[in-house]
Amino acid sequence: MTAKREHITWTIIIIGILLCVLASGCTDRTQPVQEEGPPATQGRAYQQLQNAECVDCHAPQCDALANGRGMHAPLNCTFCHVQHGYLPDCRDCHPETHGATVHSCASCHPDPHAPVERINNSDLNSSRCRSCHVPQYEGIEESGGMHSAFECDHCHIQHGYLPPCSDCHGLVHGADALDCANCHDPHKPESIEFDDHDNSQCTRCHSSVIEQTFIREHTRHADIACDMCHPEHAVTMLCIDCHAGHNTRMSMRDCNNCHRIGHVPTDIMYSPDTLSVVCVDCHAEPFNTMFESDSEHRYIECVNCHPDHETILSCDEGGCHTLEPSHGTDGTGCVDCHGSAHNLDHTIAG
Ligand code: HEC
Ligand code: HEC
Ligand code: HEC
Ligand code: HEC
Ligand code: HEC
Ligand code: HEC
Ligand code: HEC
Ligand code: HEC
Ligand code: HEC
Ligand code: HEC
Ligand code: HEC
Ligand code: HEC
Ligand code: HEC
Ligand code: HEC
Repeated sequence: MTAKREHITWTIIIIGILLCVLASGCTDRTQPVQEEGPPATQGRAYQQLQNAECVDCHAPQCDALANGRGMHAPLNCTFCHVQHGYLPDCRDCHPETHGATVHSCASCHPDPHAPVERINNSDLNSSRCRSCHVPQYEGIEESGGMHSAFECDHCHIQHGYLPPCSDCHGLVHGADALDCANCHDPHKPESIEFDDHDNSQCTRCHSSVIEQTFIREHTRHADIACDMCHPEHAVTMLCIDCHAGHNTRMSMRDCNNCHRIGHVPTDIMYSPDTLSVVCVDCHAEPFNTMFESDSEHRYIECVNCHPDHETILSCDEGGCHTLEPSHGTDGTGCVDCHGSAHNLDHTIAG
């Protein structure tokens, strides 16, 4: 880097000297401007004039050069204006600074004597910034949300100035979320980025969800970082991204049918229209027994007798069988004479 700078400096000095030589060659031929208001050379060559000797007639330029920060400040006027009245082209000394695609230097460097001062200019539009800041330009163009309505210089009122978000938004989330850039990219304010695996960032806004799920019932999901399942804000991965289903025919909709609460997957709650085939993987025995039996029960879905997982309705619950007390005992004693509910014994005689 330093080596490159030195190289550039030498190139510039050599170009400068060449220009001086060329220009002094010109001095001999024509000197139109000098006739109108030549500086008092007092016998010295024009090249030897100090900047202070131009100030009487060109005060604004002298001020700008002297006060302008940056590397033009220490240069002599005559280094660039090699002849009185000669106006150099920036490219004479900076032939390739930004590559071939950037032109009209004055639109970003409006003052040649203070070239690092404000590069903004009211006629600058965002495409001017693109050549050097592609990610920001494309970010705001493609997913800037409401920010895409702004030109860059609406926020960056001066080159390099970083506006605090709170200038326009205040503290939208209260005192807990201060470092806006922690979660928001200003050029894609809606696609919110969090630090990896830092659950505390989420707790600030979702504490009630966490209390109602992870804290209420601690399952192994509570030990996984939020962003493992929510890789982007408000985006949720599917169960099948991490787990095989209980059989290959199962789809994501099936998972939700039984595992309703992603944060407490051990709570099994299936809907009343669940078909018996989803039980078969874990309960092949009753499924097959019923399927092969010739009792009326085989036409009944499992969930009618087991409306919640691991519960068993007795025969007289759910409005199924209301019998005279003389017929038999209470609901549970029925199996004594009728066999299993999955495989009614038809051989009994009255
Ligand atoms: C006669 C030669 C010459 C001309 C013409 C010239 N410059 Fe420079 N410029 C220099 C030198 C020498 C430096 C010192 C930096 C270096 O070593 O590369 C410099 C530095 C700069 C810098 C860097 C300032 C900093 O502080 O980092 C900018 C920006 C710049 N010039 C812009 C321009 C623009 C824009 C123009 C046209 C309006 C221009 N220059 C015309 C010689 C010139
Ligand atoms: C780094 C090179 C450089 C230095 C040093 C420099 N100038 Fe310039 N000056 C320029 C350039 C480039 C222009 C604009 C050329 C154009 O507009 O095409 C310019 C323009 C001018 C103009 C025309 C009016 C204007 O502002 O555009 C005057 C007058 C002038 N300079 C005087 C001075 C004086 C006096 C000094 C010393 C105090 C000085 N310059 C130092 C590069 C320089
Ligand atoms: C006695 C007054 C006087 C002094 C001292 C003087 N100039 Fe000039 N300069 C003029 C006049 C008059 C013009 C032509 C009118 C104009 O364009 O402003 C001019 C024109 C210029 C221009 C071209 C301006 C343009 O717009 O084309 C430059 C560059 C310039 N001078 C640089 C210098 C530099 C550098 C010095 C010091 C070394 C200097 N002048 C000293 C009076 C002066
Ligand atoms: C679209 C705006 C824009 C245009 C047009 C532009 N520049 Fe720049 N230029 C910049 C910015 C912004 C910087 C400052 C980058 C930084 O902070 O280091 C810069 C920096 C520079 C530097 C200093 C580079 C360094 O490495 O320190 C030079 C020299 C320069 N410009 C010359 C030119 C010249 C010559 C032209 C015309 C051919 C030009 N610029 C056109 C925006 C522009
Ligand atoms: C110059 C003013 C300004 C600055 C600075 C600013 N914003 Fe905005 N932002 C707005 C305006 C105006 C809107 C439109 C919605 C509104 O009125 O609140 C907006 C909208 C948003 C939105 C909603 C996006 C959408 O499409 O719905 C978010 C999120 C946002 N800003 C975050 C930020 C963050 C974070 C920062 C700092 C990195 C920031 N803003 C800096 C002015 C600003
Ligand atoms: C709504 C206001 C707003 C707009 C519009 C905006 N920016 Fe920014 N930009 C910011 C804020 C705020 C930061 C500082 C973020 C921080 O503190 O890290 C920033 C940072 C940057 C940075 C520093 C690097 C980075 O990404 O943090 C660059 C470069 C930048 N902006 C370029 C641009 C460009 C180019 C455009 C136009 C295409 C633009 N910005 C439009 C608000 C804005
Ligand atoms: C010619 C190239 C160039 C152009 C054109 C340019 N910039 Fe830059 N910009 C730079 C460079 C180089 C830096 C310094 C980067 C750094 O410090 O990492 C910079 C820095 C910045 C920063 C501060 C980054 C930081 O991290 O602090 C902002 C903001 C910025 N530019 C915005 C803009 C905007 C807005 C425009 C258009 C109006 C623009 N730039 C045009 C080259 C350019
Ligand atoms: C810990 C992460 C985090 C921090 C820090 C943070 N935000 Fe947000 N912000 C979010 C999330 C997540 C949303 C999205 C909420 C939603 O979808 O409505 C959001 C939404 C917004 C919105 C849009 C709100 C709306 O009502 O449409 C704005 C504006 C905003 N943030 C600005 C800021 C500002 C300004 C700061 C800094 C003072 C900041 N944010 C700090 C995470 C954060
Ligand atoms: C194992 C995967 C997984 C992990 C880890 C996980 N979630 Fe979720 N989350 C889900 C699923 C699946 C849903 C959608 C189904 C639901 O509503 O339960 C969801 C829904 C949510 C919702 C919206 C539901 C509501 O009740 O408002 C929020 C907010 C949420 N998660 C935040 C978090 C936070 C914060 C963490 C970390 C503390 C976290 N999640 C960890 C899978 C996960
Ligand atoms: C990002 C990956 C991921 C996603 C998405 C995910 N899980 Fe998990 N799940 C895990 C990990 C890791 C474990 C712990 C397994 C272990 O320790 O062997 C786990 C454990 C479980 C357990 C056992 C819990 C316990 O405490 O015994 C169940 C049940 C479960 N997941 C169901 C689901 C369901 C249903 C979904 C969709 C709503 C889902 N998972 C989404 C990664 C995930
Ligand atoms: C018919 C209801 C039902 C459906 C549909 C269902 N599950 Fe389950 N799942 C259960 C039951 C019941 C358990 C508890 C088994 C145990 O305790 O051994 C369980 C346990 C799990 C476990 C933890 C034990 C293990 O096998 O590692 C994971 C992971 C799981 N299910 C993932 C899924 C996924 C993924 C889907 C969707 C493709 C799904 N489940 C569909 C009822 C179901
Ligand atoms: C007509 C009501 C009814 C239907 C339909 C039914 N069950 Fe049952 N199930 C019972 C009763 C009553 C018990 C208690 C023991 C018994 O009677 O065999 C039971 C017991 C069970 C048990 C406990 C262990 C065992 O095998 O005895 C499992 C597991 C079970 N059922 C699963 C299923 C599955 C799976 C289906 C669907 C394929 C199903 N049941 C259909 C009534 C039913
Ligand atoms: C992922 C496997 C899995 C699926 C799918 C599943 N179960 Fe279970 N089921 C179990 C496990 C494990 C038990 C715990 C008792 C055991 O060890 O048999 C159980 C227990 C039961 C019990 C209570 C058994 C008793 O002995 O008390 C019934 C009834 C039951 N399941 C019915 C169903 C029904 C109906 C379905 C379909 C809607 C179903 N199960 C789906 C794994 C599963
Ligand atoms: C002491 C033995 C015994 C007990 C206990 C018993 N049953 Fe029966 N049940 C019978 C006999 C015998 C029949 C007539 C044979 C047949 O129709 O298959 C019968 C017939 C039935 C029928 C067919 C009636 C009809 O209208 O066709 C139903 C339904 C029935 N029992 C339900 C139950 C229920 C529910 C219970 C428990 C509350 C129960 N039984 C307890 C012996 C018993």
